[in-house]
Amino acid sequence: MSKIIIKKSDPLTGRICCSGSKNAALPILAATILTKGRSRLYNIPRLSDIENMLELLSGLGGKCVREGNILTVDFSECRGYTAPYEPVSKFRGSFLLAGPLLSRMGRARISMPGGCPIGNRPIDLHLKGFSALGAEIENGHGYVDLSCKRLKGAKIYLDFPSVGATENLIMAAVLADGETVIENAAAEPEITDLADFLNQQGALISGMGSDTVNIIGVKDLIPCSHSVISDRIEAGTFMSAFAITGGCGEITNVNPLHVKPVTAKLSEMGAKIQEHENSINVDARAHLSSANIKTLPFPGFPTDMQAQFSALLCETEGTSIIVETVFENRFLHVGELNRMGANIRIDGRSSVIEGNKKLSGSKVTAFDLRGGASLVLAGLCACGETEISGVEHINRGYENLCGKLSSIGANIFLE
Ligand code: EPZ
Repeated sequence: MSKIIIKKSDPLTGRICCSGSKNAALPILAATILTKGRSRLYNIPRLSDIENMLELLSGLGGKCVREGNILTVDFSECRGYTAPYEPVSKFRGSFLLAGPLLSRMGRARISMPGGCPIGNRPIDLHLKGFSALGAEIENGHGYVDLSCKRLKGAKIYLDFPSVGATENLIMAAVLADGETVIENAAAEPEITDLADFLNQQGALISGMGSDTVNIIGVKDLIPCSHSVISDRIEAGTFMSAFAITGGCGEITNVNPLHVKPVTAKLSEMGAKIQEHENSINVDARAHLSSANIKTLPFPGFPTDMQAQFSALLCETEGTSIIVETVFENRFLHVGELNRMGANIRIDGRSSVIEGNKKLSGSKVTAFDLRGGASLVLAGLCACGETEISGVEHINRGYENLCGKLSSIGANIFLE
């Protein structure tokens, strides 16, 4: 199995470019099932989750052709409505096929996505919404079986602003009869991007980016071309890399409005941030201070940046506290950071991080995607050499991470 080898790096400097967003591309790819025709998608990152989604779409009759970061997907024909265990078990995003298949085929049979290291990841809110739209739901043999001849618009209240449930229900509602209102909806930029993609094809979605999304069902959708938004979590990870090494540089292909909570926190810690239309400059040459963080649904501090800041806050002055309110088990990286000399104590959903720790290079393991990113960041500032296994987790969400970080001076390579 490949490993990432990192040696203590000088302050990172230079320009680094973000890829397209994994968490925007996955629902948009699932949504291509809704359209009888060929859609053209730009800025699609090369990631294992994307490849697995394309495998599922091809198995359902989609004709997927990739040319670099451009994808064409043609669902003139849709064959079947089952997403089997093997590919589904590899990534959570596969459950996003449920809404489009239920809408297009009147049926969706999806292998239960199951849990993952960061939590048990239930799907009750998705099912509550599908049921409100008229679907019959059966569970058995590890599958969720949804059926409904014709979905009917409904008012749905989400007990938690679930990103996936909001996306699945938007996709189920766009071709349903009548109006659907999703209350307490998630407002992440990836949901707005999905809605923009669907509206470009003739859907009637409004309120995306707020806590109430309205969808008026239409008869059909016309294929379109769409460029997926850039990856705000990759951008936040690169900002953290400049910060943890005391560097100074520019992150391009990023919308500053999508990373506001992260840049605001870095400014509070003493970094100098300059925002431009499609790029951000970070100057972290001054020593950064500690900070307290509470992860929240957008526009709060993103849970997907919690692990990266856990590493960064080991290096800053003073003690910091992080409260993880979104997932119940998202501190798997803490044990590995402590192996590197960090002093982080977990108390339920909170972690207390002692700063000013001189981390030392060690053999560590990535147990989940963002936890793996935090170990890469720690390796950049740890004395000596860090060897990270579990690289397959990192490859799910970062395109060419070693190559990109090397281009700004990181001492990192894939073995
Ligand atoms: C999406 O996951 C992202 N994944 C996650 O990114 C991200 O961490 C998460 O949203 C929160 O922002 C993709 O977009 C592919 P949720 P999702 O439904 O949709 C509970 C990464 O690192 N919940 O908003 O699965 C759930 O247990 C990944 O890129 C229910 O209780 O997240 C969790 O505690 C990790 N019932 C909370 O809501 C449900 O039916 C947030 O989950 C659904 C969710």
